[in-house]
Amino acid sequence: MAKSFKYIILGGGVSAGYAAREFSKQGLKPGELAIISKEAVAPYERPALSKAYLFPESPARLPGFHVCVGSGGERQLPEWYTEKGIELILSTEIVKADITTKSLTSAGGETFNYETLIIATGSTVIRLTDFGVQGADAKNIFYLREIEDADKLYEAIKAKKNGKAVIVGGGYIGLELSAVLKLNNVDVNMVYPEPWCMPRLFTSDIAHFYEGYYANKGVKIIKGTVATGFTANSDGEVKEVKLKDGRVLEADIVVVGVGGRPLTTLFKGQVAEEKGGIKTDSFFKTSIPYVYAVGDVATFPLKLYGELRRVEHVDHSRKSAEQAVKAIKASEDGKTVEEYDYLPYFYSRAFDLSWQFYGDNVGESVLFGDNNPESPKVKFGAYWIKDGKVVGAFLEGGTAEENNAIAKIARVQPPVENLDQLAKEGLSFANKI
Ligand code: FDA
Ligand code: NAD
Repeated sequence: MAKSFKYIILGGGVSAGYAAREFSKQGLKPGELAIISKEAVAPYERPALSKAYLFPESPARLPGFHVCVGSGGERQLPEWYTEKGIELILSTEIVKADITTKSLTSAGGETFNYETLIIATGSTVIRLTDFGVQGADAKNIFYLREIEDADKLYEAIKAKKNGKAVIVGGGYIGLELSAVLKLNNVDVNMVYPEPWCMPRLFTSDIAHFYEGYYANKGVKIIKGTVATGFTANSDGEVKEVKLKDGRVLEADIVVVGVGGRPLTTLFKGQVAEEKGGIKTDSFFKTSIPYVYAVGDVATFPLKLYGELRRVEHVDHSRKSAEQAVKAIKASEDGKTVEEYDYLPYFYSRAFDLSWQFYGDNVGESVLFGDNNPESPKVKFGAYWIKDGKVVGAFLEGGTAEENNAIAKIARVQPPVENLDQLAKEGLSFANKI
């Protein structure tokens, strides 16, 4: 027999947790809402997985980081959902979605019907096996997306105590995992094809600092090449990483972070897509009126820049979920809410470092402060300037007030005439706005 709900959230990640909180705030009757997740646990703050979850001492563990603690809210333990009459349907993978019959089918053959659906399936990892890298299915080659992945990696770090790791990829996962493995006293080589790390966001001047800092911590960085194959020992465990440039690196553990892919496949041909995601309006409504999409999967109008974007970061996953639920509830009362007006916000933390970025990293960039990795006190940043206005701002080592100031500047987009002057003024320029 099919189970029916007024609302179903498909996916049990960050967006799902924040959407549930918003539903509860807006008023929800018991039995109206279900969250269906292939994960075995209630929604949690995913960013913890590449940071405190892997610390050698007192690692973070559930229930410590269930949503909504990541943004200073109250923790939603599994009991919270029970109290609110929200059904948490865990360890349940949906394998078929039919928009016309408003139904979802699980791998176990159960059917779930809804009146309104929120797609919150997030992203999955791109695998080296996807492009046929030889030997990439060896044991101890890890990816990191869900808590199960983090558990397996944690066990391997313990089993291969003080071993050797190769990190493939120089993006978010690459930088965060190199750091946390080093903290675990693992010997770390990091390999990526680009001339500097995190090229999606960092300028070469910003990357100069991080590469130097990591090198001082003992992380060995190999740039401009990729992993083309792996060899394994007689137990099938990875032993060596072969690089395109001919080098061969020993490895007990490999962590791959070569990008993510939004999980939209269940809805292919059923909802409009754009820029690799599910196209939505400013209320996260898809091309089908009773289907919404939030978080990593949504391609939404970024009002500030007048274009459609997809954002794969936690702040947007929280805010888009809240916006969608507000819009759903308002439409039931024949009302509307204000359009989503998002200011992109990304951050990362590794070792003792912590940076924040707001806005858009387009146009010319200007570095300010001291990006020397040897400096005892770390504080530097960058502005991006387009059409004579500051459109983006990055800051390493900022205080809460300073981070607020760079957020404000990215929102206000003040004009600048002289870039040399801007570089000299640095943070004081943001503080004035
Ligand atoms: P999310 O991935 O959180 O949740 C999707 C859920 O859907 C999962 O529970 C999944 O199992 C489930 N699901 C998918 N398909 C399903 C199906 N067919 N049936 C049932 N369930 C299904 N961002 C940031 O700004 N700062 C940071 O420091 C970090 N750190 C970070 C670390 C790591 C390790 C990762 C992987 C990601 C980050 N991020 C981040 C990115 C951030 O976590 C991400 O943008 C949000 O989690 C996206 O939230 P969603 O709810 O869209 O997807
Ligand atoms: P990413 O896109 O940040 O970085 C991928 C990196 O891998 C890039 O440097 C890319 O050039 C490199 N690469 C691509 N092909 C390669 C190859 N064959 N060999 C070696 N390197 C290769 O993606 P990610 O780091 O895998 O992160 C996955 C997802 O998780 C993203 O959505 C990201 O936003 C999210 N995430 C975010 C944070 C954060 O915001 N702090 C932290 C962790 C993860």
